[in-house]
Amino acid sequence: MLWIARRSPSAHFVYDVAIEQALRGHGYGRAAMNALAAWSRERGSKVLALNVFGQNRVARNLYRSLGYRVVVEEMALDLTTRPRHGDGPRAVGEVRPGANE
Ligand SMILES: CC(C)(COP(=O)(O)OP(=O)(O)OC[C@H]1O[C@@H](n2cnc3c(N)ncnc32)[C@H](O)[C@@H]1OP(=O)(O)O)[C@@H](O)C(=O)NCCC(=O)NCCS
Repeated sequence: MLWIARRSPSAHFVYDVAIEQALRGHGYGRAAMNALAAWSRERGSKVLALNVFGQNRVARNLYRSLGYRVVVEEMALDLTTRPRHGDGPRAVGEVRPGANE
């Protein structure tokens, strides 16, 4: 499943991409994203953008390997955890550099 919309005359935004669970890990996600990039380029786009959760290791690996780079970073603080002495509470979905390589 691919859900895409035009964001501007020169950009498309991918709202969602999902491969049937039983078929994951066989290259369909990569093939779909490559086909989407070609489709978008043919329609005049210079940029293809999307959001991805920091915890979504598989999707982040896929996008990074395709050449996507982080342009915005959303940060969140989990207020339900008590801070440890001398340490702040852990951010929700916190991503440490290199943690998902
Ligand atoms: C993310 C998703 C679309 C990837 O599709 P896929 O068909 O499983 O991915 P592919 O088999 O094409 O693999 C492409 C790359 O993803 C990464 N990847 C795939 N499976 C992985 C796994 N189990 N662990 C880590 N990385 C993985 C690898 O970088 C892989 O490249 P490689 O095979 O050259 O190592 C699919 O897993 C999915 O539908 N996930 C649930 C929905 C979702 O999270 N969508 C993204 C929303 S932003």
